[in-house]
Amino acid sequence: MPCDSTIFSRYQAKTPSSARLYQRAVNVLPGGVTHDTRYLHPHPLYIKRASGARKWDVDGNEYVDYIGGHGALLLGHNDPFVVQAVQEQLAKGSHFGAAHEIEVQWGEQVQKMVPCAQKVRFTGSGTESTLLAIRLARAFTEKPKIVRFAGHFHGWHDQVAFGVTSHFDGTAPPGVLDDVAKGAIICPANDIEALTRVLDDRNDVAAVIIEPSGASFGLVPVMKGFLSRLRELTQRKNVLLIFDEVITGFRVAPGGAQEFYGVTPDLATFAKILAGGFPGGAVAGRRDVMDVMTLRDDRRWNLEHRVPHQGTFNANPITAAAGLATLKLIAGSDAIARANRTAEMLRGRLNDVLREAGSRWLAYGEFSGFHLFLNPAGRDARIEDIYGGKVPQAELKGAAPAALVHQLRCGLILGGADIFPWPGGCVSSVHNQQDIETTAAALAECLKLMEIERRG
Ligand SMILES: Cc1ncc(COP(=O)(O)O)c(C=O)c1O
Repeated sequence: MPCDSTIFSRYQAKTPSSARLYQRAVNVLPGGVTHDTRYLHPHPLYIKRASGARKWDVDGNEYVDYIGGHGALLLGHNDPFVVQAVQEQLAKGSHFGAAHEIEVQWGEQVQKMVPCAQKVRFTGSGTESTLLAIRLARAFTEKPKIVRFAGHFHGWHDQVAFGVTSHFDGTAPPGVLDDVAKGAIICPANDIEALTRVLDDRNDVAAVIIEPSGASFGLVPVMKGFLSRLRELTQRKNVLLIFDEVITGFRVAPGGAQEFYGVTPDLATFAKILAGGFPGGAVAGRRDVMDVMTLRDDRRWNLEHRVPHQGTFNANPITAAAGLATLKLIAGSDAIARANRTAEMLRGRLNDVLREAGSRWLAYGEFSGFHLFLNPAGRDARIEDIYGGKVPQAELKGAAPAALVHQLRCGLILGGADIFPWPGGCVSSVHNQQDIETTAAALAECLKLMEIERRG
């Protein structure tokens, strides 16, 4: 990747302490990072502290933050009510290795908010949640296969580690056993006919799992009406439906996408906002399915039929306190509506900037998210075309050249805004007009620099 470009050289000049930390990091951390999406060329940003919608790097530079703890921080960084709950809990103990009251309250709060949540089981992360949900579905139905949709992300365990950005034919990626990969059937997204054919042809499918927003929080949107057709089809075929609400949960509505769309799955997976910015997750769903985990006074059941589930940090008191405080705030305030409104204004301002610059890129998204469509095929596309299914998935997700995305991200950082590499971001309830203006100005300046570089 070109390091001598104006944007990259200005980025390096702005962030020398991050560069130095990265030089050390590559000697200890594979690739120098601890999460793939945190990689940035020529080096990642190293963040020292954060507050509200802002964060500061190790050189003291301030940024509007659109990573939001990978989407966990709907309320922004360090919400005072959440901080207080965590501090109070820390003083009482971080881990009892035992049942405790807050886990019951936290579970009850999920039950109150989420339509499908007859029962709730806490886990350590979103990845653990989808792993558990899939296992429960297989155990309950006594069927081996699951169906997933191309491009939909469900974490990084073996059964979901392909068909997201590569291996769309269902072949196993490096490190995954062929037989494990064969347990998942990958269907094209938004194609109810293709799914119907799969479910007509076979009777070994335990469950269908979907990101109810569409792949990657709606980077590839789910088409209107698809979820209700999916619900109807899975019910008719006696196949469980799992909503992966790790991103949408407590963000698109207090009860997640299932509340917003009025479609109730059999099981749903959560993490991120659920856990209030701390590590944690959950599976929630139908009592009869969830009870496949329940210990009985029956040795044979316990050893041969039950799904055991452990996890050192499941519902640890710190996460439980943060999660409970966060969910209560979301249930009792207009936090979601505020974040949605700000994101809508932001998308509008970004599109103004793009139009004024004569760019064919688009800012789109729903709820409190935004995506930047970098238009790799140079289409004359409108936002309605994306939502009408007229722009192919291959152009919406993972199509922009990596060098361009790094350049865009570094360019925005120069102007004081940090976004995800998809590229896009999550808006919190505490982002404001000033944040929007900073971001719009950062994009305008970035586009100018890109144009200068393009002209050479
Ligand atoms: C929809 C979805 N499912 C699952 C996961 C995995 O969650 P975690 O990173 O907590 O393992 C993510 C993470 O971004 C996600 O967005």
